[in-house]
Parts: sequence; structure tokens; C-alpha cells
Amino acid sequence: SPEVKLAVFGRAGVGKSALVVRFLTKRFIWEYDPTLESTYRHQANIDDETVSMEILDTAGQEDVLQKEGHMRWGDGFILVYDITDRGSFEDVVPLKGLLDEVKRPKHVPLVLLGNKADLEHGRQVATEEGERLAADMACAFYECSACADQVGTGGGVAEAFHELCREIRRR
Ligand code: GTP
Ligand code: MG
Repeated sequence: SPEVKLAVFGRAGVGKSALVVRFLTKRFIWEYDPTLESTYRHQANIDDETVSMEILDTAGQEDVLQKEGHMRWGDGFILVYDITDRGSFEDVVPLKGLLDEVKRPKHVPLVLLGNKADLEHGRQVATEEGERLAADMACAFYECSACADQVGTGGGVAEAFHELCREIRRR
């Protein structure tokens, strides 16, 4: 069965680890643990095909050399920002720039994910801004919450991971 390597990037605290744990366990973990990187294996049935994933949960604090190494490793990427943290949204474009540099001349399979959509009262990034950025980067866009699958656009966290697998397999 096909194997894909996925890496999750984004500023520290946007919820990368919470999203990965949510995807793998359908649970939410409240305690904040500024993670070191970790990798997980997961299998899912996507469009009647079993896909084996290796998922790298990167640390928001990593330096550019570590980032480049992880970008070289990955087949596809989830770029995460926090809808309540404008700065985390502004970090996305430079991340995409680095990805393009590292992967050039290859097309880079991507998904843009606005997390913490349950915190509507603290929103600093409009849904339309996320949509526009995703259109600029020619990638799929989801708003979701690592705490609740009912929140946001699209079918929750799993949908974002599955769409990324599809995007990788299309190329
Ligand atoms: P680093 O590993 O340091 O780069 O951070 P991270 O991106 O992995 O963030 P992490 O998953 O550790 O989450 C940071 C904090 O945000 C934790 O306190 C989480 O409980 C919280 N959090 C994560 N996702 C959500 C979400 O969707 N909604 C809410 N309300 N809180 C969230
Ligand atoms: Mg983490």
C-alpha cells in the first residue's frame, strides 16, 4: 500500500501536537507540553485504499536547518496557524517560501489549516483571509479545532490529513 510522509509546521503553540493527537486518537489533550519533534505511524482507508502515513510533529521552536531537514524528508505538509494569533498567520508565507526553496523544482503538496476555531471570541484572522492565502498557495484550506470536530469548515481534523494524502497521491 502507498506510504506517505507528512510533516506539520507552524509557530509554537498553534496546536500542532494537539491536532496530531486528535487525528490519531480522536481525543484532545489539554496540558501544554512544548514538544520536541515526534513521529507517529498511522494507517487509514482513503477512497478505498489503505494509506500508510508517517507523521512528523515538528517543534515550533526549531531552527532553519532543522526545518529544512524536515522539509526535505516530507512528501506533504500541513501549515498550521492559530486563528486567535495573527503572528502565527503571518508566519505561513515564509514557511511556504522555505518549502518552495527546499523542494524546487518540485510541486509541494500542502494543506493550510486555521486551528482553534472553537475560540471565536478571540479571533484575529478572518476566515476569508485564510481562504485567500490558500488560493494564493493553490492548496486546500480548513478551519478546525483540535478540541471538537464539529467546529469550523470541512469535516474536521481528519479531513485535512486525508486531503493532504490525496494531494500527494495525485502527483
Ligand atoms: P509547539 O510544540 O511548542 O510548537 O506547540 P504546538 O503547536 O504543538 O501546540 P500544542 O499542541 O502543544 O498546543 C498549544 C496549546 O494550545 C495547548 O495548551 C493546547 O491545549 C491548546 N490548543 C491546541 N489546539 C487547540 C484548539 O483547537 N482549541 C483550543 N481552545 N486550544 C487548543
Ligand atoms: Mg507540539
